[in-house]
Amino acid sequence: MRTFTCALLLMFPAGWAQTPHRTLAIQPPGTPILAATPPMGWSTWNHYAHNISDKLIREQADAMVASGMRDAGYVYVHIDGGWEGQRDANGMLHPLPTFPDMKALGDYIHSKGLKFGLYSGPGPVTCAGAEASYGHEEQDARMFASWGVDYLKYDLCSYRMIMQIESGGDVTKAESMMRAAYEKMHQAILKTGRPMVFSMCQYGLGEVWEWGPQVGGNMWRTSNDINDTYERMMSIADRQAELSRFAGPGHWNDPDFLEVGNSGMTFDEQKSHFSLWALMAAPLMAGNDLTNMSEQTKSILLNRDVIAVDQDPLGKAGDRVWQQGALEVWARPLSGGAVAVGLFNQLTSATHITLNLADAGIHSNAEAEDLWTHSKVSIQHGSYTAVVPGHGVVMLRLQPKTPL
Ligand code: GAL
Repeated sequence: MRTFTCALLLMFPAGWAQTPHRTLAIQPPGTPILAATPPMGWSTWNHYAHNISDKLIREQADAMVASGMRDAGYVYVHIDGGWEGQRDANGMLHPLPTFPDMKALGDYIHSKGLKFGLYSGPGPVTCAGAEASYGHEEQDARMFASWGVDYLKYDLCSYRMIMQIESGGDVTKAESMMRAAYEKMHQAILKTGRPMVFSMCQYGLGEVWEWGPQVGGNMWRTSNDINDTYERMMSIADRQAELSRFAGPGHWNDPDFLEVGNSGMTFDEQKSHFSLWALMAAPLMAGNDLTNMSEQTKSILLNRDVIAVDQDPLGKAGDRVWQQGALEVWARPLSGGAVAVGLFNQLTSATHITLNLADAGIHSNAEAEDLWTHSKVSIQHGSYTAVVPGHGVVMLRLQPKTPL
């Protein structure tokens, strides 16, 4: 099914976007910031694609509670593509028979202390050819609100065709159509009065990080789809390097759902994946089967120290601060003057990586804790050398101390 995904990139020239400004217009004034920290939850797509149903969602919601995921912060239960049926004569979109009562499903999710996420797009059809919201934005937003939806992923898909045809190849026109299409659904959501996290999925086209907040985006995909390989996961991280300044409370760069707990990556590779997402302040949307998690999977998804980095209240995203060939260091400023760092080794065998604290913005001695072994690490004279496994990571939380 994933072959249906709109994976092709329309290339827009750099610099076409207007100056960004950080409006959080999705919310009525005076309400707390929606997505003040990166949204956390679970989505159907990576593990189940279109093989989804009401029953599956309830089972996953139950597992989210029983496994401790909810209590660790994962609250959104997101149904991606594969729920949409047909519109009736009044334009009402009905779910497939596999989802007999969306309102009841939303109520069930809420009764577990979780939140309800759904999927649509600005085109006439989704990437899988199912009904999307083109021409029915307000009607759909009202229906989503009546079902209790708290999070909407809005996927460009077939709207790209409309952009291409109607713009006649004029890139500036095409991009303003794309912005308008997202703004249209943003306004439709606002009109319902129900806060919904607005998750923009247009694969990073037209440097969306520069204008996503202006059209109500609480998060926007920075790249094409992830898949369950180390190579793809790392290439997404590389693509997101240098975008940290565009993220902040209420508006986040989104490198896509997690593949932790699926079968394509080794334990070390999955730890690299989770560490990078936390350092990038990415939404943490699990994409595995929560009813059947190994101890290794749980040790990653439920690592509270790494989650705390992702959810740090300062809300500043981290970035790559050093690179030499296949070796990289990423750093993220945290509240209280602390800094999280990740030493990443893209070679297949273990090697040494030296962290210079100055690269992480620390110009004093520091106390450090390894966030995967949960042990104290001694740092002397402004640098630290670690042995990093092949495709693996060493992740530290540094607290600056006395001057060097
Ligand atoms: C793609 C999107 C994926 C998933 C898929 C569903 O366009 O990037 O994340 O939503 O559509 O068909």
